[in-house]
Amino acid sequence: MALRQSLSRWAAWMVLLCLGVAHAHTVITYPGYRGNNLLTNGSIAAADGLGVAYDSKNGSLVYPYGMEWIYPCGGMPTSTNRTYWPVGGGALSMQPGWFPGHETALIYVNLGFGEVPENMSHPVVSPFQITGPSNNPYPGTFCLPQVPLPANISVSPGDLATIQVVEIAKHGAALYNCVDIIFAANGDSKIAEVNTDNCFNSSDISFQYMYTTSGIGSGAAMLKAPQHTLLVVVPLLLAAAFM
Ligand SMILES: *[C@@H]1O[C@H](CO)[C@@H](O)[C@H](O)[C@H]1NC(C)=O
Ligand SMILES: *[C@@H]1O[C@H](CO)[C@@H](O)[C@H](O)[C@H]1NC(C)=O
Ligand SMILES: *[C@@H]1O[C@H](CO)[C@@H](O)[C@H](O)[C@H]1NC(C)=O
Ligand SMILES: *[C@@H]1O[C@H](CO)[C@@H](O)[C@H](O)[C@H]1NC(C)=O
Ligand SMILES: *[C@@H]1O[C@H](CO)[C@@H](O)[C@H](O)[C@H]1NC(C)=O
Ligand SMILES: *[C@@H]1O[C@H](CO)[C@@H](O)[C@H](O)[C@H]1NC(C)=O
Repeated sequence: MALRQSLSRWAAWMVLLCLGVAHAHTVITYPGYRGNNLLTNGSIAAADGLGVAYDSKNGSLVYPYGMEWIYPCGGMPTSTNRTYWPVGGGALSMQPGWFPGHETALIYVNLGFGEVPENMSHPVVSPFQITGPSNNPYPGTFCLPQVPLPANISVSPGDLATIQVVEIAKHGAALYNCVDIIFAANGDSKIAEVNTDNCFNSSDISFQYMYTTSGIGSGAAMLKAPQHTLLVVVPLLLAAAFM
């Protein structure tokens, strides 16, 4: 059931997407996102190869490679429509497959504190790898039901923060997406309910832990062909929670 709903939501997004843009990236489905940044505009040549440039004809910015490539929040400024999230940490659900090239991807989740965070330098989960069904755009959602706060940081109801999700594509570049939150007491009714419709793992996305190995020893080893990756991703299947 959840998968079917996910597919129809994904189909709806695909329609939105096809109306405007050719490239798409990630969407945070719970607790929400700053706004739709599935957008590419302007021309690479006119922007002289910059990721974001000022188009003086229009008097506006252009994102010729796509908004989500822009640190820290995919080209979206801080939003005012904040969403409530528990002081003890909460759920985070996202759709990672909105772009070709994400058959595998690394996921990082960070917090930044304050109304306009000084930095997004507070990791809250160990980075992990996802494996999707194909290198083409694919539907599917994964959900971490209990993302904690960073160690040694405590917050009070009413405090402001931003959750940043980073997805590292196969070629090593990063896509950014954020949601601005306001903390509420655990169990507060202002927090959107977490249920099997908004928090589930699609069966076609699996998870791998990342481990680093011992030192390489000499620079020569780094010049090997890409299949000898330095970061060994051990294919431990963590999840088989399929619905
Ligand atoms: C905030 O507003 C934008 C623009 O209307 C919307 O796309 C986004 O979903 C909203 N985010 C939240 C968390 O309500
Ligand atoms: C920006 O200018 C281009 C042509 O130079 C036009 O196609 C586009 O619609 C304009 N966008 C806006 C937001 O005005
Ligand atoms: C490009 O997209 C951004 C974000 O939606 C928008 O603010 C800007 O006006 C657009 N630029 C052009 C030239 O259409
Ligand atoms: C990041 O910002 C926080 C305040 O939110 C500050 O305490 C911390 O020192 C900053 N960290 C870095 C690495 O700049
Ligand atoms: C948290 O605080 C305790 C006590 O001050 C300290 O021993 C520990 O190293 C801190 N942990 C982190 C991740 O900063
Ligand atoms: C999805 O899989 C991850 C990784 O195994 C797991 O931590 C998480 O709890 C799962 N989510 C749900 C809703 O079961």
